[in-house]
Amino acid sequence: MQKLIEKLSGKEATIGIIGLGYVGLPLILHFAESGLKAIGFDIDQNKVDHINKGESYFHHIPITTLKTAIYNGMSATTDFAKIADVDAIILCLPTPLNQYGEPDLSYIIKTMDAIAPYLRAGQILSLESTTYPGTTEEKLLPYIQKSNLTAGENFALVYSPEREDPGNKDYTVRSIPKIVSGYTPACLEAGLALYANIIDTVVPASDLRVAEMAKLLENIHRSVNIGLVNEMKIIADKMGINIFDVIEAAASKPFGFVPYYPGPGIGGHCIPVDPFYLTWKAKEFGVHTRFIELAGEINNHMPKWVIEKLMVALNSHEKSIKGSKILLLGLAYKKNVDDMRESPCLVLLQSMLDLGADVNYSDPYIPTVPKLRKYQLNKQSVEITPDELEKYDAVVIGTDHDAFDYALIANHAKLIIDTRGVFRSRNEDHIIAA
Ligand SMILES: NC(=O)c1ccc[n+]([C@@H]2O[C@H](COP(=O)([O-])OP(=O)(O)OC[C@H]3O[C@@H](n4cnc5c(N)ncnc54)[C@H](O)[C@@H]3O)[C@@H](O)[C@H]2O)c1
Repeated sequence: MQKLIEKLSGKEATIGIIGLGYVGLPLILHFAESGLKAIGFDIDQNKVDHINKGESYFHHIPITTLKTAIYNGMSATTDFAKIADVDAIILCLPTPLNQYGEPDLSYIIKTMDAIAPYLRAGQILSLESTTYPGTTEEKLLPYIQKSNLTAGENFALVYSPEREDPGNKDYTVRSIPKIVSGYTPACLEAGLALYANIIDTVVPASDLRVAEMAKLLENIHRSVNIGLVNEMKIIADKMGINIFDVIEAAASKPFGFVPYYPGPGIGGHCIPVDPFYLTWKAKEFGVHTRFIELAGEINNHMPKWVIEKLMVALNSHEKSIKGSKILLLGLAYKKNVDDMRESPCLVLLQSMLDLGADVNYSDPYIPTVPKLRKYQLNKQSVEITPDELEKYDAVVIGTDHDAFDYALIANHAKLIIDTRGVFRSRNEDHIIAA
């Protein structure tokens, strides 16, 4: 183990990252940038080819960063036999929910099955995927044992949750403090040495399950507070109070209050999904996670609330939603990113179509909507021009991308349903907060 720690600290280790998505790609680039040899693994040949050609497939990751990393020796492969050549294996794999809302660890299990033959003494295995407390020990440790390796002696097992926030310009992989936990103190020491290469502040956790649950607490905290502020929005709306003014006033308190902002619902791979990993595990201990379920219920209801507001607004223009022409602005789950996983805007789009509206969308980050598991939308983003805006009975702002020209929208749309408060300070009849 000491040899591994020295290799990691001396930047002599080769790093293997499995899963080159929103989490894995920035991570491998940071290892490459810090001077370590890095190999990326993915089952998606397309991604591997893009990386090897120095092409970025995410808007927020510049090509120059990739080209520099390739120049410094970074490469990508679909050949899992090369796991034998790496000293550190970092898993950045999806952890979605299955159709019953239960944890789906199949990506992790399939990967462990594929790499098990190549595990060897002197390696460190780190899981970064968000998951329920107990996963690392219950699901990963048996693979190490079956390979006749001993975690804590000749192999290090760690869990280190990812806090990547795509599109956030204030924080980078390096500047976001990172929690690291180990199966034994020696595993933790190796984990700290691994991540110290790319992270300014590495935070040791006392136990694998502490780190696993800390990540869930962070995301449950967001889900619950977003649920709360969404409920407050509905109450404020009924009372004729501007919720954004309320939040701004409350946020003047320098302690004990954190502002959260309402919207059309929650999206992304994390906030709508992760809390239910704990819900599922808590059942094993006879505990019902009431806060998590209530927040989920309120947040999931928000697209319906927006559709209701749209219907009422169209009604006042003597129109029904059926047959109305509607433009949805933004498909991404949050501003300035191209990620539409679990986006409430997809729910809005599908609901409007189901109700018989003629809907187009515009999103500078998502030029076309590919075939998705839940939605069969065959649409292309339209360009926002005065003529285009004037064609629609209503414009729904689903995502508040900075790239939208809001003055143009306000001046040319007949009716605006604003789910993000972009027009919070404009008091005009044709702008409806929702
Ligand atoms: N996206 C975020 O902002 C974010 C933030 C914090 C934590 N997380 C967590 O990080 C984990 C990864 O999320 P992500 O957003 O990077 O997912 P992603 O879907 O963007 O990337 C996952 C990658 O894994 C690859 N993959 C799937 N199965 C594979 C297999 N068997 N072998 C090798 N590669 C395989 C996919 O092709 C894809 O490139 C999840 O647990 C997520 O909850 C994500």
